[in-house]
Amino acid sequence: MRQATRAAMLGGVLALAGVVAVMAATPEQVIAERRAGYKHMGDNFKAMKDAIDAGSDVKPLAVRAAEIESWAKQIPTMFPPGTETGGGTHARPEVWSDRAGFEKHAGELQQAAQKLEATAQSGDKAAFAAQWKATAQVCGACHQTYRYKLS
Ligand code: HEC
Repeated sequence: MRQATRAAMLGGVLALAGVVAVMAATPEQVIAERRAGYKHMGDNFKAMKDAIDAGSDVKPLAVRAAEIESWAKQIPTMFPPGTETGGGTHARPEVWSDRAGFEKHAGELQQAAQKLEATAQSGDKAAFAAQWKATAQVCGACHQTYRYKLS
């Protein structure tokens, strides 16, 4: 067998092993991971509010906005079938019964976070504060339909 062919086959086997590893994650692990992701996003969002209230420079917040954007991209993959209950999840059944609507909200968050990153980079504090508010509305709109109240 040629070296290159063998290497390609090995690559395929490794990629398959990666897929199996993802599938092997228990529902509890997936739920814990998505809750941690949301919590991290919440912390980022809160840090932005604190900076706005303190009148701080908004440029360093671009990194946090970028993190929210990349989390928004991951949201649709974090709710596979079998993770509807357990693990202290606050997800409503509508996440699965109205998947198109749910993913639309995730897309809106991605766009809002992209704008948030741009306004942070511009250094314009007023524009950043306005876009933060607009983004908060996107968070709230999705939670209203797809998440039970956090106790
Ligand atoms: C596409 C819908 C959607 C959007 C947009 C969204 N969320 Fe959520 N969020 C959820 C769902 C569903 C859960 C429940 C996840 C679970 O418990 O399994 C959640 C959970 C959370 C949690 C609780 C995590 C925990 O400790 O269990 C926080 C905090 C949170 N979101 C913050 C935010 C913030 C801040 C934004 C906006 C920047 C946001 N979310 C945008 C759907 C969304």
